[in-house]
Amino acid sequence: MRDLEANVLSGAEETKLQYDYIEKAKQYVQEREKLAGRKLTCCVKTFGCQMNARDSEKLLGILTDIGYIETEDEHADFVIYNTCTVRENANNKVYGRLGYLSNYKKKNPHMMIALCGCMMQEPTVVEKIRKSYRFVNLIFGTHNIYKFAELLCRSMESDSMIVDIWKDTDKIVEDLPIKRKYPFKSGVNIMFGCNNFCSYCIVPYVRGRERSREPKDIIREIEGLVADGVCEVMLLGQNVNSYGKNLEHPVTFAQLLREVNQIEGLKRIRFMTSHPKDLSDDLILAMKECDKVCRHMHLPLQSGSSRILKIMNRHYDKEQYLTLVKKLRDAIPDIALTTDIIVGFPGETEEDFQETLDVVRQVQYDSAFTFIYSKRTGTPAAAMENQVNPLEVKEHFDLLLKEVQQISAQKAMELEGRVMEVLAEEQNEQDDSLITGRLSNNSVVHFPGTVDMIGKLFMVKLTECRGFYYLGEIVADV
Ligand code: 5AD
Ligand code: SF4
Repeated sequence: MRDLEANVLSGAEETKLQYDYIEKAKQYVQEREKLAGRKLTCCVKTFGCQMNARDSEKLLGILTDIGYIETEDEHADFVIYNTCTVRENANNKVYGRLGYLSNYKKKNPHMMIALCGCMMQEPTVVEKIRKSYRFVNLIFGTHNIYKFAELLCRSMESDSMIVDIWKDTDKIVEDLPIKRKYPFKSGVNIMFGCNNFCSYCIVPYVRGRERSREPKDIIREIEGLVADGVCEVMLLGQNVNSYGKNLEHPVTFAQLLREVNQIEGLKRIRFMTSHPKDLSDDLILAMKECDKVCRHMHLPLQSGSSRILKIMNRHYDKEQYLTLVKKLRDAIPDIALTTDIIVGFPGETEEDFQETLDVVRQVQYDSAFTFIYSKRTGTPAAAMENQVNPLEVKEHFDLLLKEVQQISAQKAMELEGRVMEVLAEEQNEQDDSLITGRLSNNSVVHFPGTVDMIGKLFMVKLTECRGFYYLGEIVADV
């Protein structure tokens, strides 16, 4: 594994170099098309979070630029898994699916298989793939994804497995091709990496140190997206509340939000993920005052026990978290709050778990992602001796899930009968006479409509609440 990238090209020079590789890769693809007597297909599978989803759009941008036809089917000529390693089961899914891919490759020997993303930043994973999954053609990590075109060329020129993983990078490369999944909404990276080192979390080790993009580059990208039909952006970072601290001219996330809010033609702004320790009063005020910022805050709690939060290295306690929630609700009464909670962190006792339940009951989350603690090699928590008995953890997990679901359903009922602004997002999968849309608070609503409505805003009456989604009908255009 390289410590830091060796080359000294500037971001702009690197962009140009990668476009040269894209041209070269186009020729390789054309040669392969001639041999096959047909167009070639590619399949990009994403595991994990919104960051990875955005990275996959970058991979697909290059693959389609060089001539591959996109398909969902993994019987493709080029398959790439963009992996996640946040919990052990994310890794296991990848190994399971690689088994299937090896069978596909036996039938189509020219098939190329690539692996990238967070899981590949773990040396033990790469070792295992080198040994037991020798049919894989290309492995790279999170820091050199911008070199995908170059790595593709190398891989097409070689019969052996190409492995290129970097430990970290300080470079941000702008303006490479991107193929968006949705025409009307898009993720936008505002920063990369994470400096927090929560004791359970592997992300700082696999995504490297925190780096923010320049505000002018972010604004330029969003303006371009709006010109291309996008009306909603999701600003992405591991900890958006510490955005801009490491820039030459530091900028706060609140300042960035205010600037993005002024972009003409943009309708909605979302962001992910906030860390409670960095959530400033200034940001709450910016959210309140910016009309395009959605009424939703995802604010990971992780645990309600101040004792556990300390060992988790979260830098806030139960009371500070609850105060923050009160401030948010006082300023923005209709804000939806969602969260992440881990059950079974080392040393978690019945009392600690009760503290978590207490916060859940007090905050009344609109929804919550609940996770069973997963031991990640290399993190401080993995070395702790007091790992909790899995049976006890499962019991707590089930109790928490039940509580969270009950509260979500109750919260959702509060909006039944109201008329709310909805962005039409896609045709309903089960019933094509329905369109599925989203409220500002991120809840889902299905209403009669046609595909030409997708990407537009409507006022929709929420006629019936069905647990955590609504049925509705349009009452007016926006
Ligand atoms: N075990 C379980 N859940 C984890 N998360 C992060 N690391 C772990 C782990 N080791 C959860 C956190 C985080 C979300 C993205 O994943 O709740 O907010
Ligand atoms: Fe998974 Fe975290 Fe990487 Fe996202 S950043 S892909 S959640 S490990």
